[in-house]
Amino acid sequence: MTSDLKSAAYRNANRQIAPLLRDLSDSVAAMSSVAAVLFDALPDASWVGFYRVVEPGLLRVGPYQGPVGCLEIPFGKGVCGTTAELRRSQVVPDVHAFPGHIACDALTRSEIVVPVYDSSGDLTAVLDIDSQQPASFDDQDQASLEEIVELLRPCL
Ligand code: SME
Repeated sequence: MTSDLKSAAYRNANRQIAPLLRDLSDSVAAMSSVAAVLFDALPDASWVGFYRVVEPGLLRVGPYQGPVGCLEIPFGKGVCGTTAELRRSQVVPDVHAFPGHIACDALTRSEIVVPVYDSSGDLTAVLDIDSQQPASFDDQDQASLEEIVELLRPCL
């Protein structure tokens, strides 16, 4: 996807997400809406969803779109667990080169995961987007998705 097409896709997603989240204080409704909009807006995405922090050191799957995802991921494991542990977005152009990658879907080739914080600033989830194409995501996706999860913060 060209940079211009990506910009247009994220602009379009933002336009849909902002009004959906306004004054919404239900985290399931908010995460579901974001997953649905992004799945629709990003043609390369094969899986879009959230893993929630359900106890210290443990992520459990939340609202998502796509094939069945793994239920639980410990902090430090795979791309999602690494993002949660380091509290830093991970852009992975080739999942086979990422040590400990969890293959929920054998067809996944690349992915991006960004941390999600609640209104108190606590890590509450990660947003995971997978693609069956190699190197689907880059800095532009990271910046755009980090902006989108900021819109979620007051809803969580
Ligand atoms: N790709 C993730 C696992 C979750 S699923 O792909 C839905 C990871 O390695 O963290």
